[in-house]
Amino acid sequence: MIPKARKAVFPAAGLGTRFLPATKAQPKEMLPLVDKPLIQYGVEEAIHSGLQDIIIVTGRGKSAIEDHFDVSFELEHLLERSGKKDLLALVRGISDMIDISYVRQKEALGLGHAVLRAKELVGKEPFCVVLSDDVIDAEIPCLRQLQDVYEFYGASVVALMEVPKDMISAYGVVDAEPVDHMGQSDRLFRIRNMVEKPKVEDAPSNLAIIGRYVLTPEIFTSIEAVEPGRGGEIQLTDGLKHLLRSRPVYGYKFEGKRYDAGDKLGFLQATVEFALKRYDLGAQFRQYLKTLPL
Ligand code: G1P
Repeated sequence: MIPKARKAVFPAAGLGTRFLPATKAQPKEMLPLVDKPLIQYGVEEAIHSGLQDIIIVTGRGKSAIEDHFDVSFELEHLLERSGKKDLLALVRGISDMIDISYVRQKEALGLGHAVLRAKELVGKEPFCVVLSDDVIDAEIPCLRQLQDVYEFYGASVVALMEVPKDMISAYGVVDAEPVDHMGQSDRLFRIRNMVEKPKVEDAPSNLAIIGRYVLTPEIFTSIEAVEPGRGGEIQLTDGLKHLLRSRPVYGYKFEGKRYDAGDKLGFLQATVEFALKRYDLGAQFRQYLKTLPL
């Protein structure tokens, strides 16, 4: 029997330099897409994918994340007194959502290092990693799609997406061969090699790693074995490359639309599209957009 992943790790200690000045005193994970912070989209995706425990890797200046998922007595009291039942349910729903543990990453030493900080809390079981900058709108949650592959093969799986050549240097990039899976031959790949943020001319393909992973616990030993890589940081991509020596690693081109919400343009795109989809705002917002001289 292949054990199922139960826990999801959310690295959230990064400095958010791509979104300054908004992120000078506010965690980028708390930037609101319409009316929900980015990280809540990821947490809800994890819940809808059947995960039971969330581990958030935080750092200095990130206490707003803990407060967001905690009980807010003053606010609840106020809403209760003023009879705002809908808002009260909304606020309570967030703290009741799921069990969340926190671990600190004291220095921003890279994504691999952040994941390694969760080693004790994860234990010796498979787990997911969610980068909350990557917001994915999908009928079947992206993490669920990856877990379906993991539960079939029992090996680590990363989310993949084709990106234009001029953007490839911003990603971990894989060299991979397609594998027939569930009657499809263009979604699942067996990874042969991978490289973190290559130069355009060195990129082995146009298949980029997107921020969703299902990992087997051997990844921790692999991360511990690698030296600092791109940007002088301990990279998760390098850990996965090390894992490839002893285990198969798969990549899955997920179904759905991904927004890079850690980037200003990507964030604006996500804001507009999510607002248009909202039952309570969409129609009015569409009307408003039509009045703009575009
Ligand atoms: C991280 C990973 C990279 C991946 C990307 C996806 O990079 O290191 O491999 O392609 O997330 O968003 P970051 O964007 O945090 O620099």
